[in-house]
Amino acid sequence: MAELKVGVLASGRGSNLEALITRARGYRVVAAVSDRAGSLALERAKNHGCAAVHIDPAAFSGREAYETAVADALAGFGAELVCLAGYMRLVGKVLLERFSGRVLNIHPALLPAFPGLHGQRQALEYGVRFSGCTVHFVDGDMDTGPIILQAVVPVLGDDTEETLSDRILAQEHRIYPEAVALYAQARLTLEGRRVRIG
Ligand code: GRF
Repeated sequence: MAELKVGVLASGRGSNLEALITRARGYRVVAAVSDRAGSLALERAKNHGCAAVHIDPAAFSGREAYETAVADALAGFGAELVCLAGYMRLVGKVLLERFSGRVLNIHPALLPAFPGLHGQRQALEYGVRFSGCTVHFVDGDMDTGPIILQAVVPVLGDDTEETLSDRILAQEHRIYPEAVALYAQARLTLEGRRVRIG
């Protein structure tokens, strides 16, 4: 079976992008696209011999024009699935229509708890005993799409935002490639908002 071609959208550090590249099984990351010039994510992609493109949102008249350029770039690399990995923009209808049912995201909390920014800080401040991370399909709202995989970590008494984030990040790097591998093997089926793993 041909390997699934995956495009990654990333804005910053790019550690999940790197995990998706180095832990790929049954898929291949064909390109990284970033809305930020000079992001570490683009550097990491290049270091792994992966195409790396900066598309500047400021160069477009609005979100639709910008997303059209992003979707065209991804399609140009043959991407069949799009993974958001620390992509700091809400994905709009242009990308979601062009890649319908084919956009995934990773979030650093156990959704539906603590959506949005700083999921780790929110968990710490709320006082939960466990948190973790979630890989889900993207549906146009903030962190609300059907859940594919989650991993749980304990919140320890002396945790800081940084120590908790590190513990969660190790799990992100494990479950994101695993979820993409499941998708690549066509083992995910949507029933309502439940994702069955076959
Ligand atoms: C991760 O914590 C991810 O869950 C969140 O943004 C962070 C990105 O980190 N969406 P990195 O750029 O993948 O290192």
